[in-house]
Amino acid sequence: MKQKPTILNRRQFLKAVSIGTVGFMSGAVGGFFDRSVSAAVQNPRARADFMPDLDIALTAIPDEVPIFPGLATRVWRYKSELIKGEPNSLIDIPESYLGPIIRANKGARVRIRLTNEVPANTIVHWHGLHVPADMDGHPRYVIPQGQTYLYEFEVKNRAGTYWYHPHPHGQTGYQVYGGLAGLFLVADAEEKAAGLPSGEFDIPLVLQDRSFDGDNQLVYLPGGRMELMTGFIGDRILVNGIPDYTLAVATRSYRLRLLNGSNSRIYRLAWQNGQPLTVIGTDGGLLEKPVERQYAFLGPGERLELWVDFSSYPVGYETMLVSLPFDAGVAGGPMGGGMMGGGRYLRRLPNGSEFPIIQIKVQRRVTENQPLPQRLSFVSRINPKTAINYYSPRQFYLFMGHMRWTINGRTFQMTDVADDEIVRLGTTEVWEFYNTGGGMGMMGMANMPHPIHLHGKQFQVLERGGVAHSGYVDEGWKDTVLLMPGERVRILVGFEDYPGLYLYHCHNLEHEDMGMMRNYFVKG
Ligand code: C2O
Ligand code: CU
Ligand code: CU
Repeated sequence: MKQKPTILNRRQFLKAVSIGTVGFMSGAVGGFFDRSVSAAVQNPRARADFMPDLDIALTAIPDEVPIFPGLATRVWRYKSELIKGEPNSLIDIPESYLGPIIRANKGARVRIRLTNEVPANTIVHWHGLHVPADMDGHPRYVIPQGQTYLYEFEVKNRAGTYWYHPHPHGQTGYQVYGGLAGLFLVADAEEKAAGLPSGEFDIPLVLQDRSFDGDNQLVYLPGGRMELMTGFIGDRILVNGIPDYTLAVATRSYRLRLLNGSNSRIYRLAWQNGQPLTVIGTDGGLLEKPVERQYAFLGPGERLELWVDFSSYPVGYETMLVSLPFDAGVAGGPMGGGMMGGGRYLRRLPNGSEFPIIQIKVQRRVTENQPLPQRLSFVSRINPKTAINYYSPRQFYLFMGHMRWTINGRTFQMTDVADDEIVRLGTTEVWEFYNTGGGMGMMGMANMPHPIHLHGKQFQVLERGGVAHSGYVDEGWKDTVLLMPGERVRILVGFEDYPGLYLYHCHNLEHEDMGMMRNYFVKG
């Protein structure tokens, strides 16, 4: 039996979200959570013949954690238990309330039992992983509190920095904000052969911005309705859930794996000392060879891997990874837009402002080092001419319509797919996204960046056009691509292995929650 999900209309949604601003995770959340979208399928299939290499229990729980001195902070987090697998395939980041790092080899069969102990519907999505549709954490698979969802899939992705987070429709922003997010690192032989820094020299760094009240409690969307249109922007930068993050390093090379796990903040990464960034990887793993950038944008959902060598610095040397200023569009600026409700909310750390992200301290001298490999991996280039629609790309216009962000004027409906959202299994296509802004006298609200993400696939950027920007790393595999206002991007994407219903959406989580998300259907 298919259940027809109830979609909140805009007014109900805004009302629901403003309830969420009162206090975060404070027990009775009233109308905030839409319980009407019940789990159509709770255990899609428990396969007796599935022999997992890695078997994990992941449980979403309300918890209290020390983030600042004084009162503990109420969060939602994933606790985990390793049922089967190597001990290092499930690692908690020290002092972090974020989800554990799941490590798997390419080809591993993974079973994950997600149990929901938070008072809301939830489901986990494996961001960047190429998995069957019913393993992908589509919002139609949400489970209510007290239930378990069984994931079983083979890791088909190449080595890289992937991640996981909740995906219940209308509540993804709230739940990720509350602490539900973690890294999923895939390893393979090619990565091993590259000879990159590993172990304690391979450092996960999840960048997120948050706001706290005087009692150290998380505050979500203090700007209320208008902030929903722009997306949540916090005034504290947390790395791995830790404020004022300091990294003590040795005089040698490191691999830094950066994930922008923020709801809507964009980082323009750079070294404070002016040294260029050495980028070795993106969303879908290692580049073919390292590339240098003076700075690099990291939009919500995106990953970048940096290689950095501290061997020429003395012990005691300090530097910072910073975010440089940039123009985040009118709506992302300090006033955050102001058309809704009349009141203007002044942001203390607007999107596009300059701030430190990580304080680096060279703390000890070591003699061994690993040089930068000149060859990292093989990136097989998709030949654009193999795309079945090379001469007439599938087009997606990103704009505001009726006070909501849309894709081609449409917003998310749980199982809706339009005719122009159906692709054929086994084909490759060019998809073109165009960040046209809003027009229509939106009082400047309508010019915003949009990080566009496809579920279940890694793609390649074919070209960019429109308003030109630099600071992108488009050389490798991607699952999320940032479009600044006025920008156009063409991607090449292949639809292999799995038929079914997948999502594509803006990874500004408030945009996503308000419906800047659609299904595409891979027809077998
Ligand atoms: Cu990381 Cu549908 O998202
Ligand atoms: Cu995803
Ligand atoms: Cu968006």
